[in-house]
Amino acid sequence: MKRKCYLLLLSFLLLIQTAGCGFGQNSEKPVPEYVLTYAENQPENYPTTKGAYYFADLVRERTDGKIEIRIRANGVLGDEQDIVSQVRFGGIDFARVSLSSIDGIPRLNVLQLPYLYTGADHMWKVLDGDIGKGYMEDFIGSDIVPLSWYDAGARSFYTSHKPITCLEDMAGMRIRVQENQMMMRMVELLEATPVPMGYAEVYSAFEKGEIDGAENNWPSYESVNHYEVAKLYCVDEHTRVPELQIISQVTWDKLPEEYQQVIRDCAQESALYERKLWAEREEKSREKVIQNGTEVIELSLEEKMKFREAMAPLYEEYCADYLDVVQDIMNEGEEK
Ligand code: GCU
Repeated sequence: MKRKCYLLLLSFLLLIQTAGCGFGQNSEKPVPEYVLTYAENQPENYPTTKGAYYFADLVRERTDGKIEIRIRANGVLGDEQDIVSQVRFGGIDFARVSLSSIDGIPRLNVLQLPYLYTGADHMWKVLDGDIGKGYMEDFIGSDIVPLSWYDAGARSFYTSHKPITCLEDMAGMRIRVQENQMMMRMVELLEATPVPMGYAEVYSAFEKGEIDGAENNWPSYESVNHYEVAKLYCVDEHTRVPELQIISQVTWDKLPEEYQQVIRDCAQESALYERKLWAEREEKSREKVIQNGTEVIELSLEEKMKFREAMAPLYEEYCADYLDVVQDIMNEGEEK
């Protein structure tokens, strides 16, 4: 009887094991038809990177594994300017980039003007509405196909030694900006010296004393550790620079229409996911840096207006041909 039980148990175990192996064999990964690269310059746990993974998972599922998207985070594929050029000629398939890194489409400057939006809701109303859709058409002929807008909050200045408590404090400071003409001019209008450089170089530029300040949103300031080397964060919220998920036109043209649609849909869904993560992360990042000794300098409304006035010439200097769009955007902010 004992032996019988033992044999029964043994055959049962064997059965489970065989079944297990069988599952293993049957669940062979489908062979992808397309293996595509996605560049992201933020760390792995950053909202935009999580959005990228979410996007890649959705695309894999909805193409039955025929499209595999490999995310390369942490800026390992180069700085954003290089990434955009590589996307243009098809060396990189996808990327998530700050709008400031895309050159050659001057009307994009409008969306990045200082103090253009009254807040995040206003910006999303614009980007999700007809104006945002119209912008997607500006990319025709640029070798870039835009897929969806990602959130990047508001950018503010932060410094290592001298706090910014009023407009006059900006005078003479060396401020790192993105490699973008309008952003350089913005800093000049504040009587400071713009120092354009890639995102990855900012930390060591602070360490070496090559810059006095930089500007970015809370999650960037926190996640790439700028708060360790620049502890004075002035909440002036001068710009909201939207971000885009993009695909190379070269890659796009290779994909069947059916997959193009899947990619568009998944990009939109991933953007909604990213926006949700963004709102949570902004708060968490702020708390974390404060716990680690960041001094937050809040500007009075009056002082913010002074920053706004000082930067106002950018509207004419960089967007004179698009003042109608500027006006339309501003109107959106006023309507209830
Ligand atoms: C933000 C943005 C990055 C960009 C960076 C910058 O962090 O998400 O894509 O590179 O700003 O200031 O360069």
